[in-house]
Amino acid sequence: MRNLIRQKFISLFKEEPLITRSPGRINLIGEHTDYNNGFVLPAAIDKAIYFAIKPRYDGEIHLYASDLDEHYRTHIETIKNSGKHWPDYILGSLQQLQKAGHPIKGFNGVIGGDVPLGAGLSSSAAVECASLYAFNQIFSLGIDLLTLVKLAQKAENEFVGVNSGIMDQFASVFGKKDQVIKLDCRSLEYEYVPFKLENIDIVLFDTNIKHSLASSEYNLRREQCEKGVALIKKVHPDVNSLRDATPQMVEEILKPVDEIIYRRCFYIVHEIHRTIDACIDLERGDLISFGQKMYDTHYGLSNDYEVSCKELDFLVDFVKPQPSVIGARMMGGGFGGCTINLIKKDGRETLISEIIPSYKKSNNLNLKVYVVQIENGTEVISG
Ligand code: GLA
Repeated sequence: MRNLIRQKFISLFKEEPLITRSPGRINLIGEHTDYNNGFVLPAAIDKAIYFAIKPRYDGEIHLYASDLDEHYRTHIETIKNSGKHWPDYILGSLQQLQKAGHPIKGFNGVIGGDVPLGAGLSSSAAVECASLYAFNQIFSLGIDLLTLVKLAQKAENEFVGVNSGIMDQFASVFGKKDQVIKLDCRSLEYEYVPFKLENIDIVLFDTNIKHSLASSEYNLRREQCEKGVALIKKVHPDVNSLRDATPQMVEEILKPVDEIIYRRCFYIVHEIHRTIDACIDLERGDLISFGQKMYDTHYGLSNDYEVSCKELDFLVDFVKPQPSVIGARMMGGGFGGCTINLIKKDGRETLISEIIPSYKKSNNLNLKVYVVQIENGTEVISG
């Protein structure tokens, strides 16, 4: 893939580029907890976005998306939403640097990769992080990694308009081979937890659908959580996020006044605790208990947080009774995308050969399957 991007750059711009690589991510557990100051357990994967870049001597920006065979041109003084999708992640990232007062010039860029788009593997965060990492290098900005992560998140929030948390960009940049990241989204302290299991594969089943509701419903969930916090805060002024709230507060304060807000906050408060407990399971090597928590998370996401869909539920219901599956749940923002499954190696192929036709029969859609490895985060790979 990197060679393809490099060759394309050379054929278009006749010079050798710098190339950055930034991966997509999985998340084992801790879903929708990042913007509630809770814990998440993501990892970077072996599917990545590659960005080939070289500064120009003027202020023009010439971009090419190799997977889509599309060009886009603009100027550093007139950066605005492109009306397409892919340039916005690059332009939004650049705009954050401008806002922060960094000296930016024009550049030529080629973007591409093998993170499936719209599958909930954070291809957008990977584009933002690959771009920011590249700008940091070619314009010698000296920005530290955590600041880059925050700028990438702001690009998503302000330019793209999704009010997402910090998990995706953090995982893409800080990912480490064969490790998951236990990230405290309140303090941003993190630790790596080894996750290389001899007999178990991480398998993603891609529903092949992306509901158009995803970003508006995402922003709505975030507002509902904030409403819940505001209600609790009236009684407990020291509660600033659902991280500070207890299950008892949710029961006593939210349940009597608002059924929807109650169910949203119920899920989050329990998911934050579940994620902490799941990390203890991992440390103890108790995968059975870990897997059960994945199913519990799915139940909450589907019934209380209501961000699943019938295709995701189908996939989890299908694998649950299978002895080869340790745990499974929908992953990411929801309303489509993938389920994440921990599957015993020796049962993997049989399961895959059964689930593909069943999914097709019940949903009239083709299921895509990715067996993923945990990889390093954002890096320069040549130039
Ligand atoms: C999306 C967002 C993340 C996170 C997840 C849900 O991937 O970008 O910040 O909120 O959804 O856990």
